Amino acid sequence: MSNSIINTPISSPIVHESAALHVTGQAVYVDDMPLPSNSVHIAIGLSHVSHGKLNSIFVDEALLAPGVVAVLSAADIPGQNDCSPVMGDDPIFAKNKVMYNGQAIFAVVADSRVAARSAVELVKVDITPLPAVITIEQAIKQRSFLENPMCLTAGKPEAEFDSSLIQIDGELVVGGQEHFYLEGQAAIAQPLENGGIKLSVSSQHPSEIQHKVAEMLGISYVDVEVEVRRMGGGFGGKESQSNLAACIAALAAQKTGFPARLVYDRDDDMRLTGKRHDAKLIYKAGFDADGRIKSLILDQYFRCGMSYDLSKAIAIRALTHADNAYYIPNSRLRAFLCKTHTVSNTAFRGFGGPQGMIGIERIMDQIATRLGRDPLEIRKVNYYPDYGSGNFQCTPYGQIVKDGILNTLTDQLIVSANYLDRRKEIDLYNKSSPIKRRGLGFVPVKFGISFNRTMLNQAGALVHVYTDGSVHLNHGGTEMGQGLHTKVIQIVADVFGLDVSRVRISNTTTGKVPNTSATAASSGTDLNGMAALRAAETIKLRMADYLAKLYQSCADDIDFSSGSVILPSGQSLSFSEAVNQCHMGRISLSSTGFYSTPEIHWDDNSLTGSPYYYFAYGVALSEVIVDTLTGESRVLRADILHDAGHSINPALDKGQVEGGFVQGVGWLTTEELMYDDRGALMTHAPSTYKIPACSDRPKELRVSLYDGEGNQSETIHRSKAVGEPPLMLGISAFSAISDAIRGCAKSAVFPKLDAPATAERILMTIQEHKTL
Ligand code: MTE
Ligand code: HPA
Ligand code: MOS
Repeated sequence: MSNSIINTPISSPIVHESAALHVTGQAVYVDDMPLPSNSVHIAIGLSHVSHGKLNSIFVDEALLAPGVVAVLSAADIPGQNDCSPVMGDDPIFAKNKVMYNGQAIFAVVADSRVAARSAVELVKVDITPLPAVITIEQAIKQRSFLENPMCLTAGKPEAEFDSSLIQIDGELVVGGQEHFYLEGQAAIAQPLENGGIKLSVSSQHPSEIQHKVAEMLGISYVDVEVEVRRMGGGFGGKESQSNLAACIAALAAQKTGFPARLVYDRDDDMRLTGKRHDAKLIYKAGFDADGRIKSLILDQYFRCGMSYDLSKAIAIRALTHADNAYYIPNSRLRAFLCKTHTVSNTAFRGFGGPQGMIGIERIMDQIATRLGRDPLEIRKVNYYPDYGSGNFQCTPYGQIVKDGILNTLTDQLIVSANYLDRRKEIDLYNKSSPIKRRGLGFVPVKFGISFNRTMLNQAGALVHVYTDGSVHLNHGGTEMGQGLHTKVIQIVADVFGLDVSRVRISNTTTGKVPNTSATAASSGTDLNGMAALRAAETIKLRMADYLAKLYQSCADDIDFSSGSVILPSGQSLSFSEAVNQCHMGRISLSSTGFYSTPEIHWDDNSLTGSPYYYFAYGVALSEVIVDTLTGESRVLRADILHDAGHSINPALDKGQVEGGFVQGVGWLTTEELMYDDRGALMTHAPSTYKIPACSDRPKELRVSLYDGEGNQSETIHRSKAVGEPPLMLGISAFSAISDAIRGCAKSAVFPKLDAPATAERILMTIQEHKTL
């Protein structure tokens, strides 16, 4: 009998399936994979013009350079010159025109990476520059939009605004964000004997790469196989934007007949790939004397860049998160998709949710200042009711909030973080400290879980049980560090009553589970975990049926636990013995599983429906200190209470909360993307783009998972998705900075502070503010 000590799989803080490999440097990424010696390497030639007519590309000199095998451009593509996720508007290589500074125009293929990179400089590109639209302001002025604004209206926004007692208005500019995954975009393509291609990529969406590569080469999907072992981070930046690297690598492999590797240089990666959309929010809101919101009129402008990418779905998420935690009876919400000659912006953790929420959070702070009230009180007045109250209210898009829990979470955090005393203490501190000022910021998060395109909410899995009792597991989700594989292993181990060490997940591959959605929208475990559960349960049921017949007992009473199969008689077989008996009895020990999320629906035209299966909730309180002479700020302490439902793995979930929070704080404080007047990204390396370091995390980061009950939907083991929601808890740090600055003026005015609140911007706001 093996497996006498069992790692109880569900709810255990089991370490990440690759933790040891990660920390010893043995985890294999695309650039680590050994390749045959005849392999070729690729470097991309990027446009230095934002908008222009592409007249010609001179390659002769480059072709003569040592080691160069080929130079590829749009003319070499046999099928479709497109790597877009949805709209068919992202050329692999620019053809006839360039649309952003950084766009791929050609690729050099050579026998080494260095040879390819040096030869890029020898290719001469002739471009006639054309006028370019770079900023959101310019796009608004020139009416440069991808389409008409999307408009979501509920109730009577104008009339209710006009008749409300207190009215505020304002604008907020919010910066974008570079993903800064530690592993850059990377792909290896190997030609197969029948004209097919096999790819190893760093992507959240292997199926889409399969499709894009096949369409580019003019071959069938069946002739392209795409696999992903792991990503060194994706954060949404590999949901659609890995397609380009994969297509170029596949083209090089097909053209040369050699295995081809493309790994973006960091500076190229930052120039070539889309980021979080920067946005401008213009709002007015009407309130009653208690600070209860009556009407919200909000325009959101997003810098989409030169094409759609996922912008439409992102804007829909921004619209459907403009209410965040608050019941808003009347609203007119519009989203404008600005078309600019800049890189096409894309998914980034939160997927429009952060830009949607920061608007209403800013409004809550502004109304608190206006009324001279505590911002936390104003927030609470406006909350959707907790499910336990028996009251249910509706979002502007028509979904009833059935699982509200923020009143409970907030009350708990107020106590555990000692909010009231600290508020007093900080006010006192600020009275005697004119230079260094402290601030508190509290922010709740309500985040909708499910892809807001309903059809994407499906997943498949494949489970094999081998005759020694070990289990092979494959599902459609990809591992990017978030711990998805670990959780799905726990789920399958639990079905069979096995230790997690008996279950192995192999690379995600289009050959095993077809037609998958991206691992995104935080639903990796919800979808793939459920599909894997079903596959495993199918096998378990077959085994139980067979063993019941064999031992003349009832299948329902056979228990799989602790590595054993226990019969109603009390007789116990080891799992492997049981498997062997089933195999001898010619029982299939392999099964697929499939899951699609129930109940959800959404209408893109009316912008109404119930797109989210449930909401994930969390609350955060950040305390900051600001040096009013330098503008420097620091998060001293953050208290977070987050609801992960019945957590499948509290260690991983806590890690997601910590990482998401810190990434959110980075977005709103130090991470600043700067473009010059001509649309060239100036911050294209870590030297000029500052992500949070370990030393930037709050000294005190107190993260707890909510351990009470919620009105949980029937998710996998009643857990809740946790990947993206905590990022938006980072807004509390921005709110805290604003709170710290607020006291600099003599009167109670609300500071005009845009994001990111860099030292420079804080200092400018303080200067301006002191004169008020
Ligand atoms: N955590 C790590 N370590 N690395 C990542 O790239 N991506 C985030 C989040 N957490 C990410 C991460 C994003 S954008 C999403 S959508 C989810 O993980 C995706 O994984 P899940 O659906 O399995 O939670
Ligand atoms: N999140 C991530 N990707 C998506 C979504 C979403 O909500 N909708 C469509 N693609
Ligand atoms: Mo996450 S932005 O949905 O990949």
